Amino acid sequence: MDKLIIEGGQPLKGTVGISGAKNAVLPILAATLLTSGKNIISGVPRVRDVFTMIRLLSELGAKLESFEGDTIVIDTSKVNHSEAPYDLVSTMRASCLVLGPLLARLGQAKVSLPGGCAIGARPMDLHIKGLEAMGARIELVQGYIQGAAEKGLNGNRIYFDTVTVTGTANLMMAAALADGETILENAAREPEIIFLADVLGQAGAKIAGQGSDVIIIQGAAALKPIECRIFPDRIEAGTFLIAAAITGGDVEITHCVPQHLEALIHKLQEAGIHVEAGDGTLRVKGGNGFKSVNVKTQPHPGFPTDLQAQTMALMTVAEGQSIIVENVFENRFMHAAELSRMGADIVLDGHTAIVKGVAELSGAPLMATDLRASASLVLAALAAKGESVISRVYHIDRGYEGIEKKLVKLGAKIRRIK
Ligand code: EPZ
Repeated sequence: MDKLIIEGGQPLKGTVGISGAKNAVLPILAATLLTSGKNIISGVPRVRDVFTMIRLLSELGAKLESFEGDTIVIDTSKVNHSEAPYDLVSTMRASCLVLGPLLARLGQAKVSLPGGCAIGARPMDLHIKGLEAMGARIELVQGYIQGAAEKGLNGNRIYFDTVTVTGTANLMMAAALADGETILENAAREPEIIFLADVLGQAGAKIAGQGSDVIIIQGAAALKPIECRIFPDRIEAGTFLIAAAITGGDVEITHCVPQHLEALIHKLQEAGIHVEAGDGTLRVKGGNGFKSVNVKTQPHPGFPTDLQAQTMALMTVAEGQSIIVENVFENRFMHAAELSRMGADIVLDGHTAIVKGVAELSGAPLMATDLRASASLVLAALAAKGESVISRVYHIDRGYEGIEKKLVKLGAKIRRIK
């Protein structure tokens, strides 16, 4: 298992480019199951979850023609299996995204329930309720979701009790090949959902309303193969903005979409951090300290839960007291205990974390627990006095492409050991 060794205290300086968005490419890869031909997807990040999804699609009968540079060519004309096995789904919840497409394409699906993960139970009840409303018969058998829709799926009106990103994606993909019109109410508004709708539209589906909380899909008889370019990862970009701020550096982020990061940019500016947005670029100039701010995570366009752990790291060395409320997941404070071992002053009370800024963190041996928690430990280690050793680094490799290489380019003292 790899470890990251970090010597803290270096203000980051220079320019860094952002890779393609993990949470945009995973639904797009699942959507290739809806088509029958050669799909070409560029701007793809080389992160673990992408390789896991490719493995899953291959098990279903898709053929990876090539993955050169940032471009995947995958042929889905011979998709003929409908089982997503536990060993794949348990390592990556996003495997659940093949459920809708398999039911729509093959009329059957057997997808393992993801099981819990570090941040929460990750239920699938809203996915299942929506698919049943479209005519699928679904049973839970030995930890698997077993679905059948021999006569195909029918459009219907579906209301999500909770905003769910992959739930919205699954139902949108199923509706794209269903008979008739589907209306998704209280739908997710994430940029990744807008992108999926736009790409399905280019493949022949008739979709409207993406980006609002009501999305309307007219099913098509068939979809053309997908061709698209994945946009930059807003969570990676946000992580680097915070890296610049916490180390008091001066960093320009290129190949990003400032509009996707409004909530974070406003919070950083509220904390007194200089953030400048350009055309596809963002610049952070730190170095004069920053104040504590309060954060409440919400579905997009609210403050993203995927940047909560990173923001908590920043707040551990801010001036004052910060109150962080995690409204999306039930157990997403796993990083707090590790940050406290570095000298942070954090009190947890259910969904609320009270963070009192301290003058300085000190390096320590640390354990990553989930993808974004591990990013938060890297940020804290970059700012801390002395050396930190972060183990279970496979978590961070799921969603960040070559993070230590990008940080070294910015002057960080970080290295990976096997
Ligand atoms: C997506 O997960 C992202 N993953 C997550 O990013 C992100 O944190 C999350 O959306 C919220 O923005 C991908 O896009 C691959 P949800 P998802 O369904 O879709 C409850 C990362 O770090 N819920 O929007 O699984 C659920 O328990 C990952 O990149 C139900 O109750 O999240 C949670 O409390 C982590 N029933 C809330 O909704 C359901 O059927 C939001 O979850 C589905 C969800």
